[in-house]
Amino acid sequence: MDLSIVAGSANRPLAAAIAQQLGVALTPCLIERFPDGELHLALQESVRGRDVYLIQPSSPPVHDHLLELLLLADACRRAGAGRLTAVMPYLGYARQDRRAGGREAVGARLVATLLAASGLQRVVAVDLHSPALEGFFDVPLEHLSAVPLLAEAARPWVTADSVVVAPDLGAVRLAERYAGLLHLPVAVVHKVRMSGAAVRVRGITGEVRGRAPLIVDDMISTGATVEAAIATLLAAGCRPEIGLVASHALLVEDAVERLLAQPLRRVAATDSVLEPPGQRLPLQVVGLRALLAAAIERLHTNRSLSDLLAYA
Ligand code: R5P
Repeated sequence: MDLSIVAGSANRPLAAAIAQQLGVALTPCLIERFPDGELHLALQESVRGRDVYLIQPSSPPVHDHLLELLLLADACRRAGAGRLTAVMPYLGYARQDRRAGGREAVGARLVATLLAASGLQRVVAVDLHSPALEGFFDVPLEHLSAVPLLAEAARPWVTADSVVVAPDLGAVRLAERYAGLLHLPVAVVHKVRMSGAAVRVRGITGEVRGRAPLIVDDMISTGATVEAAIATLLAAGCRPEIGLVASHALLVEDAVERLLAQPLRRVAATDSVLEPPGQRLPLQVVGLRALLAAAIERLHTNRSLSDLLAYA
């Protein structure tokens, strides 16, 4: 079965880099919008019998990018693709993995159902908000991790008196993973989310006084979590030399201004989503090209992914 790489419009530079690494040309695809706002797309080359990988993070605008991926999958299925995999460097709706109150939808479960219903036979994702999301998918989910790459990016920033900080309870296991790789202790900020863009901190566990914090998280959205964590860390006597590492830098609303106002020395994130144009953060972008190309190559040739997976 020959390999085809199809790019949605959410992150074409990453898709092109992956295709180049694999030595294949992107399959040409028309993606347009009808006057009434409907998306319309058409593959411009045959994918019949081929092993097709659709590269599309469901990053903001999340509904456009998600529907585009569903339509691409449907087009490939109807065009006779032999095997169909979505490569989603960032998975939107992942934070809606439970009902926090009454009468809510579980968005992550619905998105997983829609992806499987579109004809996708496999999904590849990177540093999901929660590893338990795998259980929502009726098709195999390959959960890759960029943590080893990001830890290497942060290694030159840290010293023996640094501390890895989980900015909320959900990030504790992630922080432990970074701490293991960087041989550092862990502190945990106890966050309560008040709304989509507002959080409150109840306290902090662990020794941060006189230490330089390295905050780690799966994603930066509005920056509210990081802002609150930094205020807590400074009040607890940390050194004002703070590093921030996140797998997905969505940087929505006024996140860039919020983070620029903090004593953040360095920030590292992957290129899972496109960087907002002209943003001025001291951001070191860690490319996912090699990781995702390796995963595709191994899936294509039915070889093990185990050393690339999040639980490795
Ligand atoms: C929440 O549990 C996530 O891990 C992130 O901490 C959060 O989604 C970041 O969002 P924001 O930047 O808007 O606070």
